[in-house]
Amino acid sequence: ASLHDQTLVRGTGGELHQIAEGDTEILTTSQGAPVADDQNTLKIGQRGPTLIEDFHFREKIFHFDHERIPERVVHARGYGAHGYFETYDSLAKYTRADIFQRAGEKTPAFVRFSTVAGSKGSFDLARDVRGFAVKLYTKEGNWDIVGNNIPVFFIQDAIKFPDMVHAVKEEPDRAFPQAQSAHDNFWDFISLTPESMHMIMWVMSDRAIPRSYRFMEGFGVHTFRFLNAKDESTFVKFLWKPKLGLQSVVWNEAVKINGADPDFHRRDLWDAIQAGDFPEWELCVQLFDQEFADGFDFDILDPTKIIPEEIIEPIPVGRLVLDRMPDNFFAETEQVAFMTQNVPPGVDFSNDPLLQGRNFSYLDTQLKRLGGPNFTHIPINAPKCPMHHFQQDGHMAMRNPVGRANYQPNSWGLGPREHPQKGFRSFADAEEGQKVRLRAESFADHYSQARQFFVSQTVTEQKHIAMALTFELSKVETPVIRERMVSHLLNIDEGLAETVAEKLGMKTLPKKADAAVAPRDDLPASDALSIVKN
Ligand code: HEM
Repeated sequence: ASLHDQTLVRGTGGELHQIAEGDTEILTTSQGAPVADDQNTLKIGQRGPTLIEDFHFREKIFHFDHERIPERVVHARGYGAHGYFETYDSLAKYTRADIFQRAGEKTPAFVRFSTVAGSKGSFDLARDVRGFAVKLYTKEGNWDIVGNNIPVFFIQDAIKFPDMVHAVKEEPDRAFPQAQSAHDNFWDFISLTPESMHMIMWVMSDRAIPRSYRFMEGFGVHTFRFLNAKDESTFVKFLWKPKLGLQSVVWNEAVKINGADPDFHRRDLWDAIQAGDFPEWELCVQLFDQEFADGFDFDILDPTKIIPEEIIEPIPVGRLVLDRMPDNFFAETEQVAFMTQNVPPGVDFSNDPLLQGRNFSYLDTQLKRLGGPNFTHIPINAPKCPMHHFQQDGHMAMRNPVGRANYQPNSWGLGPREHPQKGFRSFADAEEGQKVRLRAESFADHYSQARQFFVSQTVTEQKHIAMALTFELSKVETPVIRERMVSHLLNIDEGLAETVAEKLGMKTLPKKADAAVAPRDDLPASDALSIVKN
């Protein structure tokens, strides 16, 4: 019905009722009972008490009272879209993953972009890392590449994740600032965590205030493995390159945009896709073998390090196109459950201690957030390939085994069976050693790549880093934390450290921070690290 031809009936209290007529659907309860009056509760007389017998009212309010689910413990604010991944060429030489066997193969995809620190209702243009999580609904199950727009991370070991996240989120007593890192706790933790210095250079750079999701790179961060049909392993890093190129805004633009339109990135993605202007990324892989890994300057298991693109050139292997917004934000974007441990046969993990911890954490968090073990029954999380298993029951079970057998082996010839060739096999890595709680010595160089990133920036980009550090550290009230940060910067770039110290009004420079491994200054600048291409 148009806005004009609706039948409105005035009730006894002057309230308006919209009445179903013609082929208009009739309002029902969630049990399906047709509703006669949705404007008034059931009472004794017009002014009497409401009756507990009013099942329609009770159901409506009960459901409303339960609308909220816990927001994600990190990456709470996000925005997603549907699309597809198209494989360029067969990668059978490296991986037996079905998605990479046939040129032109199209695989449905869902992507969620996010900020990390802010709550669900925070603003889009915070200086923050952006999540870039991709779910590929392959014929061999869901493959989630749960990445960020920055190729390295703050910490080297997953056991530090709760501390890091507590430090970056609002301070527990005052509950501010809600969505930025400009506060004592964050910089206290960072200044006591030298492994975070490379990440900090990225987060203080223009990379941390993207112009829109459409102009962002994405990175799988960790080293993974490809396994081919002969179970031969090749190490692989995943990178998403935006077709529109890389663009950011500057800080004063970000501040204005946040004030004027906190949904700026959401609106940009919505508008672009509705206008048929479908954003696109190329998936690239950096492939290398054990020999390269053994000879590389840094440990390929260390998530605070990159392999420069000049050393291992990223090879484009397919494209991701986002062409459809969700019909319902909650059902899809809010309930989507990404998990690093979702990999198809032919993709495997490395021993990166951050990745190993993540593989535990994501399942655990989805159980809590989505309310039980059946979150794969939610359509956005359900694989789009055939599934056959004997898992059953639990809260909200939508699918249960059909027929007599709910176990195997069984004598009835019923139900699915294992398949040694087609099934998932882990790489038979030869592991041996003492059980110890130690950080690898090969992870100890915390400054060289931070410096390499800084020198790779244009002069303007370097100025932005200095301004960002000055702004953020000027909000830190405890002098010793500021000094500790400058002492780290001295190991990265003396000019940068001096500028920041001077702008912060420090009379003298602190001592350089002790470095477990002396920072190197022989690493060449990398073109891929600057947004502004010369
Ligand atoms: C959520 C990326 C490290 C635990 C996310 C999301 C992304 C992401 C993109 C949002 C997913 C979405 O859009 O729904 C990363 C990257 C990491 C990293 C790139 C490091 C390289 C970790 C670590 C842990 C962790 C070390 C824990 C040990 C979580 C949890 C969530 C999350 C619990 C919330 C998931 C949910 O409720 O759906 N992460 N993360 N992450 N991450 Fe990470």
